[in-house]
Formats: sequence, C-alpha cells, structure tokens
Amino acid sequence: MAIDLSKPDLIVAVFGAGTMGRGIAQVSAQAGLTTLLFDSTDGAVKTAIAAIDRGLEGLVAKERMTAAAKQDVLNRLNSINSLDEAKGAGIVIEAIVEDLKVKRELFRELEKRLSADAVLATNTSSLSVTEIAAGCEKPGRVGGLHFFNPPPLMRLVEVIGGLRSDPTVVPALVGFVKRINKHPIVATDTPGFVVNHAGRAYGPEALRIVSQGIASAREVDLLMKEAAGFRMGPFELLDLVGGDVAHAVMVSIFEQYFDDPIYQPSANMAVRVAGGLLGRKSKQGFYSYEKPETSGPATVAVSTQAIPKSVWIADEDGGRDLAQWLSVAGVKSELGGKPASSGPCFVTPLGEDASSACVRLNLEPARTVAVDMFGRFSGRRTLMTTPLTHAETLGAAFAALSDDKTPATVIKDSPGFVVQRMLAMIVNVGTRIAELRIAAPADIDTAVELGLNYPKGPLAFGDALGGAQVLTVLDGIFAITHDPKYRATTWLRRRAKLGISLLAPD
Ligand code: NAI
Repeated sequence: MAIDLSKPDLIVAVFGAGTMGRGIAQVSAQAGLTTLLFDSTDGAVKTAIAAIDRGLEGLVAKERMTAAAKQDVLNRLNSINSLDEAKGAGIVIEAIVEDLKVKRELFRELEKRLSADAVLATNTSSLSVTEIAAGCEKPGRVGGLHFFNPPPLMRLVEVIGGLRSDPTVVPALVGFVKRINKHPIVATDTPGFVVNHAGRAYGPEALRIVSQGIASAREVDLLMKEAAGFRMGPFELLDLVGGDVAHAVMVSIFEQYFDDPIYQPSANMAVRVAGGLLGRKSKQGFYSYEKPETSGPATVAVSTQAIPKSVWIADEDGGRDLAQWLSVAGVKSELGGKPASSGPCFVTPLGEDASSACVRLNLEPARTVAVDMFGRFSGRRTLMTTPLTHAETLGAAFAALSDDKTPATVIKDSPGFVVQRMLAMIVNVGTRIAELRIAAPADIDTAVELGLNYPKGPLAFGDALGGAQVLTVLDGIFAITHDPKYRATTWLRRRAKLGISLLAPD
C-alpha cells in the first residue's frame, strides 16, 4: 500500500459538520482542495456552510480576502448526503461524536467504499487511534489528525500513527497538514497526545493550591499572568473552556494513565461541575459573568506598616537579589550571619515552605516572611507567611516590597509558593512527555506554544529557569509532602545533574 496525499486533485471528505468539522472543511477548501462535507443530522451541513460563509464574509469585510477568493472557497465546498458520494476521496477526516463504537462503524462503512490507498483520519481528542483502527478490516490506513478549536485560527495539528498504521501514513499526513497550511507535530498514540497531556499541570496544580487555602483563584491568576507571563490565568482558562469539559479531560487522562497521581483531578472541581458552576457558559464559575466586576481583592488584607530601616536576609539563592529589590525602598539588608534581635527576617526558599526554612535556619517564625525569588519574576511579587508570622512583620515586609509600586500578593505557607509549584509541574509534565517518547523534545515545546498559548514550551521554560532549580523545587516539595505527584522525572533529573538543556535528546 503506497499512501500519497500529494496528488494535485486530492479530494478531502470531512465527516461531522459541528464545531470542528466545519472548521476543518473550511481550512481544506481554503488550501485549494475540493472538500466534501457530510453530517448525519438533517440540515447540519447547510448550517455549517452558512457559518463558514459568514466567517469568510468577515475576512472580506476586513479586506483580508477578496470576494472572488471567498467564492472560490465556497465553490470547492460540497455538501454530500451519502457515504457513497465520498468514494473518490483520497483522505477522510472524521470529526463526529466522540464515541468509539460510532467512529468504528463509520470507518468500517467507508472502508467498503473508498479506494485501497485512501487514508482514514480521526480527529479524536480522547480515544486511542489504534483502538479506532482495530475496528477496520485494514487498520494500516488509519491515522490521527488532531486539530484545535477553532481550526481556521489554530495552526497546530497533531499527527498520530496507530500501532498498526502503515509506515507511510504518518509522513503522508505530515505532508497533508503542511499542504493545508498548518503546523504538524508527530505524537505517539497515548492519552491526550501532547497538548492535552501537557495541559495537565496548569489547571490541576492551580486547583490544588486553592483547595489547600494557600491563595484564592484570583490571586493565582494574577500571579501567573503578572509574574510568570501567561496570557490567561488557570481559573480564567477553566471558566473559558467550561468546568465540565475541563474536568472530563482531567478525569479521562488520569484514568487512562491508571491513576498516576501526577494527573490527579480535583475533588473540588467535581463538586463545582455537579453544582453547575461551569464558567462563562453558565455565567458563574470561578468568576461571575453576570455582573461586571465581582472579583475579590488581589491579595489578603495587609495592614501596611512603616517601611523598616533594616532587615535580615538568609544568604541563600535569591538573597542577594532580594537585597537589591529592598534597597530600592531604602531598606538596608544584612545578608546571612546571626539576625539582629528585632526586625523582619526574610527567607527565599526553593520548594520549601516558610516554616521549614525557619526551623532549618533557626529563625523566629513570628519575625519571618518568605519571598519567592524563582525566575526573579518581578511583575508581581509573592510574600509567604508562617502560621506564626506577626501581622506587623508581614505589614512591614509588604510595605518594603511594594514601595516601588510593584504589586505583591501574600499567600499562606506552601512548599514552592504558587509560581514555583505551577512552573515546576508544567516543566515536570513536559519532561514526562519527553521521557515517554510521545514526541520529539522540540515538538513538545512547539505543540504547547501553539496549542496552549504558553509563553514558552515546558522544556524551554525549564531551561530558562534552570533545570537544577526546577529539580530543587520538586525535590523540596516532595520531601515535605511525600506526595508522589511531585516526584521529578528521570528526564529532568538526569539533565539537571549533567547541566544540559532539557531539550537535549538521548
Ligand atoms: P459537535 O458535536 O460540534 O459535532 C459533531 C457532529 O457530528 C454533529 O453535527 C453530529 O450531527 C455529527 N455526527 C454524529 N454522528 C455522526 C455520524 N455517525 N456520521 C456523521 N455525522 C455524525 O462535536 P465537535 O466538538 O466538533 O467534536 C467532533 C470531534 O472532534 C470529536 O471526536 C471531538 O472529540 C473532537 N475534537 C473536538 C474539539 C473541540 O474543541 N470541540 C477539539 C479537538 C477535537
């Protein structure tokens, strides 16, 4: 069997004219390919083509497309009413209901009608390509083409080979994706492929932080946006995607990896979903979409004190940079040695909570405040208290660190603060995808940048933060919590120890 999707007169048949199918059909027709569109629901294709028409009309109005070019696209889009009419297609892309039985049934029926070298591609997000293919007489011609919503705007397409796919299927699909002006990355047939797997840190870790009472949803969102540079906070994203959809993905990946704790979903999220707090679509999620502004304050109330004249800082990683930050407010710092008998003491732990750092350094917890210096992020600072930190100490520390108008957030004691935990987990899950050989290291980063819109891919993020630093954070959290979800991957540990890039292949 020789698969060839480069023929100039290749015909594409898209099955399912819903959210994804209509977008995929539009992309295909816009790339100059004759495209057939089928749906089992009466009138669905007509509705889809009308929606595509309106979308293209918007481009014409913005002068990003000519009226003639729009007409050409519409002329290449053909509605079909039976499976028989797809017989000339060189590739079928199914975007029908996410149901194994129904997808297998469709492919079995199509197999009987298509030529022997036609490819059957599935847009499934959560099913196994190999399992769908196993229902076919010739599983060799089945592969995965995982588009992202909305297909006309999202450049990434994951290409997945099933275990029994013919060796020519994946290269042919990669060529096809380029032909329709998208960016392909190749992934193995594993739960969530790359993008939905890589996304298992941002939401779940943020949910853990909030459910442990360390910070509010809004505080976490602000820290991730203003300090770590993400475009959307994890709770804004959960509200946008929809709690029900997001929770279902968390549960599906956790179960498919046989309850590996690293992917553990949130029990609190299950209650929110059951209660209908789904986010934008139900007008109430972590934020309210009913009234314009109901979000809480950006940090817990802090009774700001006078800026202290001098403070003590532990002479550890980040200590010198913290002294620099404080000098802007005119605060003199004493770095290391024995603290003076009064005044705030600052610690800058990595992966350790403020209480443990206090005990390790023999400091008075009432006088101690921890500051997150990870990545030296200065768009929003994090101050962390011990359960015994005096309100006056916190107020003085807050005054000193926000004197230059930099916003600051106060959180409860947590190994790894908020940003350290979040970023270390993103890097750890990214290195896990590399370790499981799901995709090439550079492709993991590209997939995350294009599919999740993170400022950097997880491996490049790890390199920018320093592999050894990320490892210290994870080992620190693990040492305190004994929670296996924080165990660092061997991919990360090895590269951190060798001092090489997390993108370095074996
Ligand atoms: P949708 O519900 O918007 O559209 C599905 C369409 O398929 C409906 O119009 C339905 O009438 C039609 N359909 C159902 N059974 C059919 C059959 N046997 N033959 C022909 N048409 C049939 O669903 P959506 O969101 O477009 O998802 C489609 C597929 O794409 C699913 O496998 C989903 O997991 C996957 N996907 C969805 C993404 C999303 O963000 N919505 C992203 C990436 C993949």
